[in-house]
Amino acid sequence: MNGLVCRIPIVQGGMGVGISMAGLASAVANEGGVGVIATAMIGINESDVSSNPVEANIRALKREIRKARILTRGIIGVNIMVALTNYADLVKAAIEESVDIIFSGAGLPLDLPSYLSNGAKTKLVPIVSSARAAILICKKWLAKYSYLPDAFVVEGPKAGGHLGFKVEQLNDPDFTLEKLVKEVVAAIKPLAAERGVLVPVIAAGGIYTGRDIRDIMELGASGVQMGTRFAVTLECDAAPGFKQALILAKKEDLIVINSPVGMPGRAVRNHFLDEVENGNKKPFNCPYKCLKTCNQAESPYCIALALAAAKKGKLKNGFAFAGSNAFRVNEILSVKSLIASLQQEFSLTYS
Ligand SMILES: Cc1cc2nc3c(=O)[nH]c(=O)nc-3n(C[C@H](O)[C@H](O)[C@H](O)COP(=O)(O)O)c2cc1C
Repeated sequence: MNGLVCRIPIVQGGMGVGISMAGLASAVANEGGVGVIATAMIGINESDVSSNPVEANIRALKREIRKARILTRGIIGVNIMVALTNYADLVKAAIEESVDIIFSGAGLPLDLPSYLSNGAKTKLVPIVSSARAAILICKKWLAKYSYLPDAFVVEGPKAGGHLGFKVEQLNDPDFTLEKLVKEVVAAIKPLAAERGVLVPVIAAGGIYTGRDIRDIMELGASGVQMGTRFAVTLECDAAPGFKQALILAKKEDLIVINSPVGMPGRAVRNHFLDEVENGNKKPFNCPYKCLKTCNQAESPYCIALALAAAKKGKLKNGFAFAGSNAFRVNEILSVKSLIASLQQEFSLTYS
């Protein structure tokens, strides 16, 4: 990416609520990858979060970025979902803190460059699930801001968390990550060439081994973004109970839910989700107004509270998001040993 080089082609995907904070992000950055702090309800543990969610989230975001900077000299990004009501404030705060990269998906970040002040070095990386979305963003950014994205994350249907697909597309061979990566690479190539820049494509969703990294890079990706594997590391900021939920997950437990965000989401099935599926609502007074797209009257539960409970290991009151390969995880590794094993698998595929 223009002026920013990481030692290994691995981005740790931003994971909210509170799963990837300064601890995980700095550990990944210290190993030469890109560490990403998730901003979705990052301030949920601030004492004034119910009365003043906007300020609480900004304060917590700034603190996490500063904490990460103390723990690493590596590359630190933040993940800011377009669907968040305080999107603009979070973007401004991240740029003020000179974060290296903003990753932004769950909607099209069409006005993201408008927040870049003169001299800001923060790179802007949209997360997309189609070549169409990538082209649309490029065209809008070029026309309005004369700016091309510094890279794209292309997230396929096997990812954990919210998915940029219709449910019926998830198993459609027309929407595999491999296909999407090739399409996005081909679509942005002429635009990048015209401007004499490189726009790396980072592949996400279901990447599990070093071999997977190599295979997708052979199709044109410059690197990968991985979530699930980093969620089950020692340094991941979630409680042991959250990591255990992923370790215990069997293939059939990895289900797609209709999230209150208004998108499908992949999660580990549990009693909480079974109750929701059975129509048992968990009434709530929308405490944080965190999502533009959440309709409280129709939402069977508060997703911020459910994910925050899961982060604390209280799976009775919530659920864990996870990618479709989560059933393969059977132990908690350190970030260092996970990355070492990925590197070894990657290089073995050369011989
Ligand atoms: C627990 C969890 C939380 C996630 N939260 C977010 C989020 O807040 N914002 C976002 O853009 N993506 C989120 N994701 C997606 C990841 O950043 C990443 O792209 C995805 O997990 C990649 O797929 P993989 O898990 O198969 O590696 C989340 C994924 C997981 C597993």
